[in-house]
Amino acid sequence: MRKQIAAANWKMNLTLTEGEALLDAISAKPHTLAPNQEAIYAVPFPYISMAQAKVGAKTNVYVAAQNCSNKLSGAYTGEVSVTMLQSMCVKYVVIGHSERREYFNESNELLAQKVDACLENQTTPIFCCGESLAIREAGTQNDYVAGQLTESLFHLSETAISHVVIAYEPIWAIGTGKTASSDQAQEMHAFIRSHIASKYGASVADSISILYGGSVKSANAVEIFGQPDVDGGLVGGASLIADKFVAIINALKK
Ligand code: PGA
Repeated sequence: MRKQIAAANWKMNLTLTEGEALLDAISAKPHTLAPNQEAIYAVPFPYISMAQAKVGAKTNVYVAAQNCSNKLSGAYTGEVSVTMLQSMCVKYVVIGHSERREYFNESNELLAQKVDACLENQTTPIFCCGESLAIREAGTQNDYVAGQLTESLFHLSETAISHVVIAYEPIWAIGTGKTASSDQAQEMHAFIRSHIASKYGASVADSISILYGGSVKSANAVEIFGQPDVDGGLVGGASLIADKFVAIINALKK
């Protein structure tokens, strides 16, 4: 069975003390991770060491970064490279979140470079894709998402793409309280898998975890994660509340 992942995306929220308290509160609540399940905390850069210390050696729990540079080192003031993250034992990096695409003008071409930087440095990209409301209303979401995948991932070898985690996040569902229905999520996840299969074959496509993101809550996680092509979630708002995130972890398929 594919890896099932509950990934928290804290975005630019919480002070250090609040972040510590949140991780303590999550640890204190009963949750177990089966061998095929992982919990990931994508925290702001300055909190990575704190989060790693809190998570400690817990099995199948990891700390992630929310972004990295496409460059590995040099005169790029304010940037953080994947080699720096790797030197801190960070295993995952969220790449191409819609907020970065929109507010920081990250293009598919730039994201292809970031994906390469991650994979060449033994770090797993959680590659985000997803359409806006206008695209969904025009009915062209499949072509749009296929384009994002093709332009940022399809230069990879079969082995390299097998190390990518994909997060489908319809922009109209992010932070809006409007979740895609479980049918809409399943339909797009199946489409993403078929698009990958068209280039890399079914066995590669079947091995890749595809997470859903966009207003995942404790109340809808079981239904969404229960869909055959949904392998967990990338969770913003609900990941900032211990009870809710623990319920979301517990909603992962076994
Ligand atoms: P949300 O955010 O759960 O608050 O909608 C998801 C995300 O942007 O990763």
